[in-house]
Amino acid sequence: MDRQIPPDTVSLQDYERRFHERVDPAIRAYIAGAAADGITQQENRAAFDRIRLMPRALVDMSAASARCTLLGETLDYPILLAPTAYHRLVHPDGELATAQAAALTRTCMTVSTQASVMLEDIARASVAPLWFQLYCQPRQQDTFDLLQRAEQAGYKAIVVTIDAVVSGVRNIEQRAGFCLPAGVGAVNLAAYPPNRPMSATHGSPLFRGMLQHAPTWADIEMLCRRTSLPVLVKGLLNPRDVDPALRAGVAGIIVSNHGGRTLDTVPAAIDCLPAVAAQVAGRVPVLVDGAVRRGTDIVKAIALGATAVLVGQPVLHALAVGGMPGVAHMLTLLQTELEIAMALTGCPTLRDIDASVLAPAPAHR
Ligand code: FNR
Ligand code: LAC
Repeated sequence: MDRQIPPDTVSLQDYERRFHERVDPAIRAYIAGAAADGITQQENRAAFDRIRLMPRALVDMSAASARCTLLGETLDYPILLAPTAYHRLVHPDGELATAQAAALTRTCMTVSTQASVMLEDIARASVAPLWFQLYCQPRQQDTFDLLQRAEQAGYKAIVVTIDAVVSGVRNIEQRAGFCLPAGVGAVNLAAYPPNRPMSATHGSPLFRGMLQHAPTWADIEMLCRRTSLPVLVKGLLNPRDVDPALRAGVAGIIVSNHGGRTLDTVPAAIDCLPAVAAQVAGRVPVLVDGAVRRGTDIVKAIALGATAVLVGQPVLHALAVGGMPGVAHMLTLLQTELEIAMALTGCPTLRDIDASVLAPAPAHR
């Protein structure tokens, strides 16, 4: 039983608007809510809007293709689904519907540690390439167990999120009184004991408690050694973290500020991309996420050094509005917009998209 997609839903922004019209305010506050004052979340979008494109006219597009090779996999488009928690908040089929939409559009989906459906069931339900996003657990054996489950279920890569050792200051969802409704939860973690402060009586429960278990680069190195799957880190912004990541053995880097949900007032992810890509210097693929909403955003990201982009919130907007077909439609809109942007900038392949498609900043003021 699926939801009707209104015929005037022609862009990702339209899905976002419909989502806000239809979904319960507390759930909207969780999904759309940024950390603290939302400065980084706004900046993610504003930064894309500041960049201007500079097209070449009348380029031969007869052999055009948006195909991209990523960690040995060929993707039709350089667009992946970012890991987002609890898809069952907006649709009873949750991640199963999303994974089917990913399969239908041949899109790689990253499944969150905090998925609301068992990771094994998602893998069984979909022929899409799947990556697994790993949150290091307080007990190392639980982290290794998650890793092994993902390997056994056929996931193709592990994405370790490094920018959320604690949750951000989520005032927007606190004000809205968000809590998980009955029947929706992090089912993949149900077998592991929850994270409890070790010594709440002496000092801060954060510093003396949960951060005692927070991962370091040594843990990333251990994960890289323990699995034959490629390991990417997600949430790297500072070029100074590139060498520790590469020394640890990562196979890819996702430049991300978690959609503005963790540390507020960090720069836009797209603005951090050039320096990270320069430091990586082609040694591993660099991906980026945060406010990618248009085909032109993808051209800009590739021009600034990304191999591919990920989308987070738009997946949940489309799932809420249109279920499985909604997510597939949203992805098709973005794919088509990318093709249009490539055609109109005169870039027949992703390799043709370089800094020359970016207009220099105007020398005014
Ligand atoms: C997220 N994100 C996220 N990241 C992660 O590594 N693990 C997770 O479980 C989640 N969960 C999650 C839930 C929700 C509701 C949102 C909106 C986001 C962050 C996500 O992967 C991605 O970095 C951002 O969403 C990208 O920005 P956009 O596309 O949402 O603007
Ligand atoms: C979030 C967590 C689940 O952003 O990563 O809500």
